[in-house]
Amino acid sequence: MKTPKCLETLLQNGLIDEVYSQLMSGKEADVYVVYSRGEVRCAKVYKEAVKRNFSQQAQYQEGRKGRGSRQARAMQKNTRFGRKELEMAWQSTEVDALRQLSEIGVRVPHVYEYVAGVLVMELVLDAEGAVAPRLNDIRLTENQALEYHAILIGQIVLMLCAGIIHGDLSEFNVLVSADGPVIIDLPQAVNAAGNNNARSMLERDVDNITAYFGRFAPELLSSDYGREIWKLYSRGALSTSSVLTGHFEQSGNPADVRGVMRDIDYARILHERMLLRANGPERS
Ligand SMILES: Nc1ncnc2c1ncn2[C@@H]1O[C@H](COP(=O)(O)OP(=O)(O)O)[C@@H](O)[C@H]1O
Ligand SMILES: [Mg+2]
Repeated sequence: MKTPKCLETLLQNGLIDEVYSQLMSGKEADVYVVYSRGEVRCAKVYKEAVKRNFSQQAQYQEGRKGRGSRQARAMQKNTRFGRKELEMAWQSTEVDALRQLSEIGVRVPHVYEYVAGVLVMELVLDAEGAVAPRLNDIRLTENQALEYHAILIGQIVLMLCAGIIHGDLSEFNVLVSADGPVIIDLPQAVNAAGNNNARSMLERDVDNITAYFGRFAPELLSSDYGREIWKLYSRGALSTSSVLTGHFEQSGNPADVRGVMRDIDYARILHERMLLRANGPERS
């Protein structure tokens, strides 16, 4: 196909030899199949920040390390400089997350280059060698759904153990490759320790995935892996070998009703004594 403008720099630099086709024009990016350094690869070109929601983006940004304090302050403001900084942080978050996750064994596309706002990565393929479908595009048997759900819960735990939450995980951001599910699309990845919304994002990721697989394996719909995982994480007890039940208990201990009643009585007596003293005859 004719080389799109956004890929011309990479073509001139020799990082890409040919652009075969446009795979997708998503809400955040255009994705192309390219020939690069002797291989068929995938090039993701980010759309301008203007086309995204600034305040929503800023929410994901919380707790991330900027390039400096000036940049960090700028990102809080909806100015031209602020938007540019936010955009750079947004793009590099995906590259950083992909690299870090790959290193710790999460199945994500391998990153080859990140140049001029273009991410060149592994093109994920299915068993027939065609571009892998998204989870959303395929039908599953109940057993496959249970198996893929278990794999993805394992991957979510692995990510959280490294302090990362995907933040937009769903059947649209998981590809089904020849060797199982591959997680993609991470520019909004969240730092679990530094973001006040971390808990709700983690639970939403887990709920999205569970609701999807629940269509094929309805028994998953009564599980609550999200809250179980967060509870372990917040106690510092989550590890890649944590055994999960899929159930969440409010508290392991039975409520001490008698103890609570005793405390209330005690507080009431103290309060009555205080009132008596305040209203009683003045002491000399
Ligand atoms: N590495 C990849 N291999 C194969 N297809 C991909 C790859 N990355 C993205 N895609 C395809 O491009 C689409 C959009 O990419 P994504 O990273 O999800 O961006 P967006 O933010 O636009 O959703 C995906 O749904 C998928 O179909
Ligand atoms: Mg996507």
